[in-house]
Amino acid sequence: MDFGNKLILAPMAGFTDHPMRHLAVRYGADIVVSEMISAKAMHFKDKKTATLARIYEGEGIFGAQIFGHEADIMANASRSLATGEYEYKISDTLPDFIDINMGCPVKKIVSNGEGSALLRSPELCGRIIRACADASPIPVTVKIRAGWDRDSVNCVEIAKIAEANGASAIAVHARTREQMYEPYADWKYIRDVKNAVSIPVIGNGDIFSGDDGIRMLEETECDSLMIGRGAIGNPFIFDELRHRIEGKSYTPPTVSEKTEVALEHIRMLCEEKGEEIGIREARKHICHYTKGLKTGAQARQRLNFATSYEEIYDILSHLAKENQ
Ligand SMILES: Cc1cc2nc3c(=O)[nH]c(=O)nc-3n(C[C@H](O)[C@H](O)[C@H](O)COP(=O)(O)O)c2cc1C
Repeated sequence: MDFGNKLILAPMAGFTDHPMRHLAVRYGADIVVSEMISAKAMHFKDKKTATLARIYEGEGIFGAQIFGHEADIMANASRSLATGEYEYKISDTLPDFIDINMGCPVKKIVSNGEGSALLRSPELCGRIIRACADASPIPVTVKIRAGWDRDSVNCVEIAKIAEANGASAIAVHARTREQMYEPYADWKYIRDVKNAVSIPVIGNGDIFSGDDGIRMLEETECDSLMIGRGAIGNPFIFDELRHRIEGKSYTPPTVSEKTEVALEHIRMLCEEKGEEIGIREARKHICHYTKGLKTGAQARQRLNFATSYEEIYDILSHLAKENQ
């Protein structure tokens, strides 16, 4: 599998479920990644965890992302996800690659020595990557941050370790754990990694437009782009990026196209999760779809209290008319 010249939807727990991935692929994402899956929970045969790796039709190239800190348990999870051999059937289709989470900054995760906390133990990172790569019949990739904090930036060291231990590509979110999501991502870290390894390097952090993507490619010479928050409520960003990369002119969607897609997104969420949960989950997406629209703020206030699809339909239809 080739990880070069790809547009990738970043894994985002609580966001990148099937409806978001489906729309990202429709608008040009080449690769999508699941929400993060606990290797430990899979080890204890938790009933729901592995279903996060369920692949639906039209998902493009699919990566199943795991997190954990025990090499053997992560290797077993990699093998189970890659082969489908598990306590229950996870999916009709198997993933194309396994991604190891070495970037999550959340307290609950790092306090277990998982996610970005692994960056503090390069030797353990190497053992985990080696164990997963050996156990998995499909490629293994790694997603890291620049380092734990500004005094311990070690993305180049970790990237070299990843390459030496069988990783097929490395995604670099150009912030330390200490920085969480502030201030801006420093893309220099991506360039440093690109200069140090031969495996494809995936640049990540603060791509919110086609211009940002072009600038990241130019400044870092990374092989592929990974987009997270910039794709929430904006699957069109992949189309924009592809047009810009290919030097073609891009016409953004009209407001009515945007609201149509937002409504489709909600319908998918309701179909999959039932209306109550679907509507609740829809709110966090829909608010982003309405960003920058005239009277969007009032609409968002109403959307936050909407309890049915019909109510949301009325609010968005009204918004579309106001913005014609
Ligand atoms: C709500 C949210 C959930 C996230 N969940 C994950 C996750 O499950 N696994 C992971 O590797 N990164 C996760 N991330 C980090 C993103 O993949 C990405 O690295 C980060 O948002 C920076 O990229 P961006 O500036 O394009 O958003 C998450 C980010 C957000 C905002």
